Amino acid sequence: MKDENFLKAHNAKSFWHPMTAPSDSLKNPPAIIVGAEGVRIRDIDGHEAVDAVGGLWNVNLGYSCQPVKDAITAQLDRLPYYSTFRGTSNDCVIELAEELRRFFGPDGLTRAFFTSGGSDSVETALRLARQYHKIRGEAGRTKYLSLKKGYHGTHFGGASVNGNANFRTAYEPLLPGCFHIPAPYTYRNPFNESDPAKLAQLCLQALEDEIAFQGAGTIAAFIMEPILGAGGVIPPHASFMPGVEALCRKNGILLIADEVITAFGRTGAWTGSRLWGVKPDFICTAKAITNAYFPFGAVMIGEGVAQVFEADETGKAAIGHGYTYSGHPVGAAAALACLAETERLNVKDNAAARGTELHQGLLALQARHEAIGDVRGGHGLMCALELVADRATKKPADKAVPGRVQAVAYQAGAMVRVSGPNIILSPPLVLATADVQTILAALDKGFAAL
Ligand SMILES: Cc1ncc(COP(=O)(O)O)c(C=O)c1O
Repeated sequence: MKDENFLKAHNAKSFWHPMTAPSDSLKNPPAIIVGAEGVRIRDIDGHEAVDAVGGLWNVNLGYSCQPVKDAITAQLDRLPYYSTFRGTSNDCVIELAEELRRFFGPDGLTRAFFTSGGSDSVETALRLARQYHKIRGEAGRTKYLSLKKGYHGTHFGGASVNGNANFRTAYEPLLPGCFHIPAPYTYRNPFNESDPAKLAQLCLQALEDEIAFQGAGTIAAFIMEPILGAGGVIPPHASFMPGVEALCRKNGILLIADEVITAFGRTGAWTGSRLWGVKPDFICTAKAITNAYFPFGAVMIGEGVAQVFEADETGKAAIGHGYTYSGHPVGAAAALACLAETERLNVKDNAAARGTELHQGLLALQARHEAIGDVRGGHGLMCALELVADRATKKPADKAVPGRVQAVAYQAGAMVRVSGPNIILSPPLVLATADVQTILAALDKGFAAL
């Protein structure tokens, strides 16, 4: 490895970072992470911090998960790759599909389609949803509905259903036939409604209105995150997702739950859909499926959809979709070990307990720091702080402010993530109470320094 000075001088000179301008990476050199253990990361200067970002919502079991590391190395020695396209399979992927079928059984999902990550999983679900309707003789069902503020990755389909202009404008025109309804975001919404239950009903009415306007027979699927994540951690009222499910069922629209961050325990339930008592037609997963140690994903498919594909004798159910790395044996081995460890540690319960501590602590910080306009969380280990310049008018904080909080918090021992006006927290689910306190104390210092 090149020395420290070389690395610092060359970062971003020959590669572009995702989700920022190339010039920004040069002007604001990022922390260069060189090591990690447990829930802590270590940078090139030897500084250590609790990783309150959890990698990128994906290192649920922390950085020292030996069973997953062992599974990857053993599989690399045994069979480092083979394709699962027509005609070949591998032992790990078969076993994994059975395990996932068991795990997602309570969600009504019984088949898996494997991918290389979250955007791939979203793309897969969107495409299979259209195909489902074509097999059933409803070829006119091609449109997609989704939520403003939703995040569904960056492939063209996913970006088209995304509800944030930052991921859309530079890449337009996007897919035609994608329409958005207001998110159940109590802090800011077009209805000026701050009561979560009332807002959920208003958003559901907007959905019903949009379905009637578009014509139910033109809509393939509705896609949503059970708790909106990257858009700033927006937990809907408990009535919202069941309401969406009911409208979808009534109108023959498939429901895609994008659980790229919520599956495997993050919300305090094993899936976000289960948290709300909903049985979607697809669940998109990725990220924590391998604890981030190998790029991998799975789209889980509902029994009803599966039966339509499997009963087809016309040829319309031939899947013309897939990735070179779909069902990668090393990813499958990692996912098998990860799922076993995820269940053995019962991380959903720790996520719920530590999540409550974190959320309560953030509310206490809000009482001390004027810049915190809104605190969101309360369902597992996903929380956000929305920063404002003025609480009364909710004027967003100056762009530089969240970055200043983050920089001080990092030096004080916690890595947090800035996304627009929000500070987002998505730590590993194996977090301890002492780690929660470290994160809160570091944020306290960050806000005190403003
Ligand atoms: C809900 C959701 N869907 C899709 C994605 C895209 O996943 P990836 O970045 O692995 O392509 C993300 C990533 O954060 C996500 O949060």
